Amino acid sequence: MEPTIAIIGLGFVGLPLSLVYASKGYSVIGVDTNQQLIAKLKLGQTNICEPWNEKTLQESLIESLQNGFFYPTCSYEEALSKATEIIITVGIPVLSDGSLDYRMFDIAAMTLGRFLKPGMTVLLRSTVPPYTTRNRFKPLLEDQSHLSAGKDFYLGYASERMAEGKAYEELTSMPTPVAGINETSLTKCSALLSKICCEVVPSKSMEVVEMSKVVENLSRDVNIAMVNEYAQYAHSLDIDISQVIAVANTHRRVNLLSPGPGVGGYCIPNAYYYLAGVESRCDHLSVCHMSRKMNDLRPSTILSIAENEVKKVGKDPSSAHFALYGIGMKDYSNDLRLSPSLEIIKLLKEKKYQYRFFDPINPWEDVGRCEHINEFLEGADCLLILNRHDDESIHRLDKIKKLMSSRPVIIDTRSFIDMEKARKKGFFIFRC
Ligand SMILES: NC(=O)c1ccc[n+]([C@@H]2O[C@H](COP(=O)([O-])OP(=O)(O)OC[C@H]3O[C@@H](n4cnc5c(N)ncnc54)[C@H](O)[C@@H]3O)[C@@H](O)[C@H]2O)c1
Repeated sequence: MEPTIAIIGLGFVGLPLSLVYASKGYSVIGVDTNQQLIAKLKLGQTNICEPWNEKTLQESLIESLQNGFFYPTCSYEEALSKATEIIITVGIPVLSDGSLDYRMFDIAAMTLGRFLKPGMTVLLRSTVPPYTTRNRFKPLLEDQSHLSAGKDFYLGYASERMAEGKAYEELTSMPTPVAGINETSLTKCSALLSKICCEVVPSKSMEVVEMSKVVENLSRDVNIAMVNEYAQYAHSLDIDISQVIAVANTHRRVNLLSPGPGVGGYCIPNAYYYLAGVESRCDHLSVCHMSRKMNDLRPSTILSIAENEVKKVGKDPSSAHFALYGIGMKDYSNDLRLSPSLEIIKLLKEKKYQYRFFDPINPWEDVGRCEHINEFLEGADCLLILNRHDDESIHRLDKIKKLMSSRPVIIDTRSFIDMEKARKKGFFIFRC
């Protein structure tokens, strides 16, 4: 069986995307420059946790390798000697000064350009600043291939809207906007998407689709900054923010997201910088800018709240034991990129406070790591709930009470524990 679709970049997006095509009977060749990753994939190993059509992602990977529908490689040459349709999922990281690091993206485009042949369809699915497909990606492909986009090969851009943890469902059922450099490119790219996705949304402009993808992420950043502010306000009045949000969201035109310890991952925190960098148009983005700053500061705000509550029960934070539950960038996730929990750990280290953490799915190594929940809770003065996980042990309040020290404080940033029940059992619990 000859592979027909090449997926470039086999990370949190590219691997599930490859396996969705493979599971629908398409032959996929996956390309990644990370040799260790390719070696692991060939052995059927992946660290990505995704519930997968009633299987795990790893089981689906093994199945697709065995039945020959998925083949991973480091070689663009090999992949493009077989594929006629190509999807790119290599991202553009944001550096600590807010500038964009295009190195991986440009290398991917140039290498692809070198092996591009007439008649191929190229669909960019990375999240990018507006005009990237037209003004950056296309010239790199054309310079290397000496082919013309829209004439010799087909070029388009599509949003990637999947959320980690829901990849299978969202890659197949989330409406997916797409645009092409010309009408034929749009038709070819729509056909490629329609092989797996039940609702393709054609648009006339690649820039509209590029910008819509970024503002979808940015609007979540702003919404989260707003609810975090409400959460702090509610905490100051001892009102349960999760109940406030549940009641407010019964209004049909209101959709408040959940507060949390900050905003992590590769998508939402980067969105502001994808727009702000475009021709210095950041003057038009003051609400987004402020929200980004607030979300960046959120881990230190959470730690200050924890320190204050510890002081209120008569303990000194510098000798207290802080126990952090969940270190992923969001609930149920083992993606650590820009994780707020890791930022809190960094701050605890700087303050030389005593800390430990427990996470049932993240293998991250650090001195504070606890393998067992009992060891994690034993003698802890302040428990910070930073992620939700499918883990019953954190709901056993009697057991937690026995293990933690006297006057135990809980800072529940994920509205995970029943506050009323916990207070009745003698916990000093707060949502914020
Ligand atoms: N993670 C998400 O939930 C999500 C959701 C929607 C959109 N996106 C967007 O999708 C894109 C990919 O995100 P991700 O989370 O999968 O990133 P990732 O870092 O997990 O995966 C990218 C992969 O590309 C590989 N790579 C780097 N340079 C390469 C090259 N020159 N050729 C081939 N492979 C190369 C890396 O080794 C890595 O495995 C980003 O633009 C991101 O913003 C991500």
